[in-house]
Amino acid sequence: MTNLLNSLRNIVGTQNLLSQSEAAQRASHVWDARPLQAMALVKPANTKEVSAVLAACHAANQSVVTHGGRTGLADGEKSTTSDIVLSLERMNQIESIDTSGATITVEAGCVLDSVHAAAVENGFMYGVDLGARGSCTLGGNISTNAGGLSVLRYGMTREQVLGLEVVLADGTVLTSMNSMMKNNSGYDLKHLFIGSEGTLGVITRAVLRLRQKTHSVNTCLLAFNRFEQANKVLQILSAKLNAQLNAFEIIWNPYFQLVTDPDISGTAKAPLDRDYPVYAIAEARGTAAEDDKALFERVLENILEEHLLADAVIAQSEQERKNIWHIRENLDPLLSFCPNYNYDVSLPIASMQSYVEGIESEVQKKWPTAKCFAYGHMADCNLHITIVPFPEYVSESFALSNYNAPIDQKLVEEYYEQCNQIVFEPLKPLGGSISAEHGIGTLKKQYLPYSRTSAELALMRSLKNTLDPSNILNPGKVV
Ligand code: LAC
Ligand code: ZN
Repeated sequence: MTNLLNSLRNIVGTQNLLSQSEAAQRASHVWDARPLQAMALVKPANTKEVSAVLAACHAANQSVVTHGGRTGLADGEKSTTSDIVLSLERMNQIESIDTSGATITVEAGCVLDSVHAAAVENGFMYGVDLGARGSCTLGGNISTNAGGLSVLRYGMTREQVLGLEVVLADGTVLTSMNSMMKNNSGYDLKHLFIGSEGTLGVITRAVLRLRQKTHSVNTCLLAFNRFEQANKVLQILSAKLNAQLNAFEIIWNPYFQLVTDPDISGTAKAPLDRDYPVYAIAEARGTAAEDDKALFERVLENILEEHLLADAVIAQSEQERKNIWHIRENLDPLLSFCPNYNYDVSLPIASMQSYVEGIESEVQKKWPTAKCFAYGHMADCNLHITIVPFPEYVSESFALSNYNAPIDQKLVEEYYEQCNQIVFEPLKPLGGSISAEHGIGTLKKQYLPYSRTSAELALMRSLKNTLDPSNILNPGKVV
């Protein structure tokens, strides 16, 4: 190994190769303060160095775990002291913006927030937005096909990627920096790597689509007496606001209560009564401020007249809008429970209410004081469920959640297993997916057959063998 570490040092320079103990000074995840485990951490400056690093690791049969912002929720970034961690943090530049073609070219270590800022500065916007925007990187977004809060209008990350540069396991550089909407010249290879969670190649650069900047935003919080009303309202908003509808996020009461609890610091102030069974945040964006506002208000008035809403509030300022979104985005109170089990499923909208009720009742049967929190991207058929078997165990520090509960680790794993069954089993007859947007990583790997046929799994394995025959890239993840 000394030979390999020497080679890596020669490639990136001494200051860009961290030893095991230096790497351990970092946290392993934004929400897990335990020391990062790595044999060494290497920080290449460009694609050429990434290629040389991978070629050296390939020759030494050395496993490599690639790191972006470490905000993933499937343990896809998990590493051990036998792995080299490849961090793209130095490759964080925006290379160029093409205002006539509406594209932006970025290095993979570029933070999502800075892509948004650069797009806006140039009169555009970037279509993917998510709560981790200040830490997550484009390389991580692409390799997990990140979704987020405006998928309904702009699609997932896959829909934004026009071109990609990837380094294969043996160091081969595959440059497909296409910048046009159309290019049917043979297989579109970039799609192999988007969503492959670092198992098929290392993404180094990308060309992304930009969208026209919107100049108006209208946001409301809606309260319903029944889920079916939320479903109906989503249909009406989709029809009446059409392409302007940017987000429709559902929140069931337990999550709303938690994130607006005045006794928990940092929670949002509830702008509506906290006792309704279901809430939703709807947002529309357009280009004609006055007309857009009038349309938004008129459509909501009509919905009120049809008795589909229990109550509603429209944000009258950017501060009020931020407060409404804080209700949805602030996951900290949720993550402070020990242990907490987070899910990210997709299923038909019409089945959501009975699915959530089914889970709540199964969980309560097993642990009578347990809590279930349900919320998510309803318009994308994507729900997030967090199960907390023992709500009495709350960690002081979010960063340590899951890990300092006064419950032994074996039980934590046993409960997880039981929750997995409760959440995943009912998806089978619904044709749902065990992961709508967070990916498989290691956490959901054993359940992949719930969502994929054996023929699909066989082709995935065969692609993995072809692209990474020595299994050095993020081994043990996904398939
Ligand atoms: C969200 C993350 C959990 O939607 O995907 O907030
Ligand atoms: Zn989500």
